[in-house]
Parts: sequence; structure tokens; C-alpha cells
Amino acid sequence: MIDPALVAALRDARHVCVLTGAGVSAESGVPTFREAQQGLWEKYDPQQLATPEAFEEDPKLIWQWYRWRRELVAAARPNPGHFALARLAELVPRFTLVTQNVDGLHQRAGSNDVIEFHGNLFDNRCHAEGRLVEHAPDAEVPVCPGCGANLRPAVVWFGEAIPDDALNESFAAAADCDVFLSVGTSSLVYPAAGLADIAKENRAMVAEINPNPTMRVDGYDFSIVAKAAAALPKLVESLAA
Ligand code: APR
Repeated sequence: MIDPALVAALRDARHVCVLTGAGVSAESGVPTFREAQQGLWEKYDPQQLATPEAFEEDPKLIWQWYRWRRELVAAARPNPGHFALARLAELVPRFTLVTQNVDGLHQRAGSNDVIEFHGNLFDNRCHAEGRLVEHAPDAEVPVCPGCGANLRPAVVWFGEAIPDDALNESFAAAADCDVFLSVGTSSLVYPAAGLADIAKENRAMVAEINPNPTMRVDGYDFSIVAKAAAALPKLVESLAA
């Protein structure tokens, strides 16, 4: 299942960059945006809830939705795919992990310096000033201790820009790496989907791990058609052997 040429490329690599998407958390039971919502939230379309407009119109509803999501994610556990990526970081000279996930499961599995492209579900920030607020007051709609505006979950909503630091650091890593792994992402949402192109333009080896290969895989060097929780541990074991 794992091409020895990919293992060899990882062994020779100076810098490995990995982009993960919702698929890496699938086996932890974290529901993705594109999956049907459960229970009370079944009748809502997440693409309409996760917008600044929805928050401005009904902050109470959006906070209820996010509290429900926080509970779901808090009850989930990192899976062998997350742990394998934390181990991979120890086996190569330089490692950059970029995730589109907001669930924090990479960090809980031991990954450090994770670039969170879409923010973190458990952080809060002021909707007016944009700054992160460490201790949110306990209220249906918590307000900023500094300016009194509504606080919101510190995630990137539809129509919002990716934080500059995350964008710059991940573009630089994609341009610098020798091996780029795209794991569990549909590669539909830009700019994250463009990272593999940047890596390719800069002559990195690019591999995708996805049980349903994406349309972009033809342009990549390797395609591992498997679930992340199965393929990543195998890849890392081969490298460590
Ligand atoms: N292992 C690896 N990949 C998997 C697994 C698995 N066990 N199960 C599913 N996948 C793949 C699917 O085949 C799909 O290609 O994971 C991908 C998930 O795609 P999306 O749900 O589109 O997730 P993602 O690419 O992370 O979406 C990007 O869009 O919904 C917004 O902001 C949200 O960060 C998200 C962004």
C-alpha cells in the first residue's frame, strides 16, 4: 500500500509539510460540515450558520450551535492518524503541520506549532476588535471584557479571510518543503487547496491520502487510497524501520 519511493523521499527530506482536512478526524467521530447535522440541528444548514451575517442576526443561536459542537469535539479522542503525525515530526529534520480542522485533535495527540488555517473551536475572540480573549464571561452571548462587543468563537467563517500569520507561514512552508502530504481533504476550499500546487511548483514530492481520491490527484506523485488512521501509522512505521 505504501510506495517505497515515498518512504525514500521522506527519509531524504529536509522539510516535510502536511495539510490535513476533516478526513483525518473522521475516525474520531467528528462530524464535518458537509455531513448531515444531528438532533436539534438537523434542520439548519451549517453553511448558513457559520457566517458573520448569521452571528450578527442571531448571536444566541450561533452560540448554542457552537456550544453543541464544542461538546461533541471535547468528547472525541485523537485517532492513530493524529498520533502518527505527531510521531512523524520527530523523525524528520523539519516539519510543518497545517490543518483546516478547528477541533484541536492534532494538539491533543502531541503535535506542536500546528498552523490552524481556520482557527480553533475552543478559542474566543471579540467580534468587533478581532483580538483573542482568554477568559470569556459565562453568558448566553458572552461580551468582550475590553469593549463590550459580542464575543464569538475564533474560527474562520464563510466569507472571512484566513489569518495573515497562518497564510504566510503555510505558503512559505509549502514553497520550502521537499515532501508535501495532503491528508483527508477534498481540496476544494482555497487558499488551503492551493498549498499542494505551491509545493509542486517548487519541486516537492506531493502525496495524497484519501479513501476517495480527489480530482487533483492526477497532478500528484503518489496517491494512497486509504483512511488516514490506517495509512499514516503504516507510513510512519515504514519510515522509522
Ligand atoms: N481518512 C482520510 N480521508 C477521509 C476519511 C478518512 N477516514 N474519511 C473521509 N475522508 C476524505 C473525504 O473523501 C474528503 O475528500 O476527507 C475529505 C473531507 O472533505 P471535506 O469535508 O470537504 O473537508 P475539508 O477538505 O477539510 O474541508 C475544507 O471546508 O467545510 C469547510 O471550513 C470547512 O475546513 C473545512 C473546509
